[in-house]
Amino acid sequence: MYKLGLIGHPIGHSLSPWIHNQLMDQQGIEGKYELLDIHPDEFDEKMKALKQKDLHGFNVTVPYKEKVIPYLDVLDKSAEQLGAVNTVKKTESGWVGYNTDGQGFVHSLRARFPDLFEKGKKALLLGSGGAARGIYEALSRTELDTVDVANRTMIRAEELINQIPVNSQAAAITLEQAMHSVGEYDLVVQTTTVGMSPDINNTILSLEHLTKGTVVSDIVYRPMKTKFLEEAEKRGARLHYGHEMLLQQAVYAFQIWTDTVPEALPLLEKFEQKLK
Ligand code: ATR
Repeated sequence: MYKLGLIGHPIGHSLSPWIHNQLMDQQGIEGKYELLDIHPDEFDEKMKALKQKDLHGFNVTVPYKEKVIPYLDVLDKSAEQLGAVNTVKKTESGWVGYNTDGQGFVHSLRARFPDLFEKGKKALLLGSGGAARGIYEALSRTELDTVDVANRTMIRAEELINQIPVNSQAAAITLEQAMHSVGEYDLVVQTTTVGMSPDINNTILSLEHLTKGTVVSDIVYRPMKTKFLEEAEKRGARLHYGHEMLLQQAVYAFQIWTDTVPEALPLLEKFEQKLK
């Protein structure tokens, strides 16, 4: 009987319990996935209490992906480099922290658009927050030649690039520059909260210079199809949705906890119905 959960605040509308219950069914595993909503004023006290509980593992979401780190005993390489954790597993060496966001993003993208990972391709990342960092690190470890980063506050894009050493080419640019050069990229990834419900009429960037066939991805999953993706579709882009990443990062977390290899694809359609 696996005891799993999610820490964060607020998490009342989280889709994680649904996903993990589906994964348990798929794998024939018995378990319970609980929402552990922790108020920021009680974080230290609740984390200490959590250490005494017989949990097998838990997910971490906003606003605790960084704050959880001092309570962990070991960090895996990606979590250490990013300074952010979204999955914790209890082991004989204590609590081990992982970050499956970037890996989940890349896996879900590669499954749909394998041609993006042929040599010579260029990606543009919009945003420089926590989500952008994980995706930048994971994308830069693929065959992509270039991963440029555009952000409203350009210095944050420069910092992101400087803090995470990678093999691919990378440049920080302004959103204005990104708007003009967007047609040069094979992949454009929107990683900010712009366009997230209830702010559904906003987009971070005008896509008037987008080239047909470009893969455009938005990590926002509420609404499922953001205005940004709608605009991209009108210009003949191929779309990659935020819920695809959400599902795949959960699959990787589940794999870490249970040592089973669940599949995301059979759940995708049901998940889309749930999100609509
Ligand atoms: P998270 O960790 O969830 O990614 P974050 O660290 O607050 O969140 O980062 C949010 C990202 O959204 C940043 O790239 C932010 O741009 P700034 O660095 O300039 O603040 C971006 N963002 C948020 N609101 C925005 C807006 N209205 N226009 C453009 N970018 C915005």
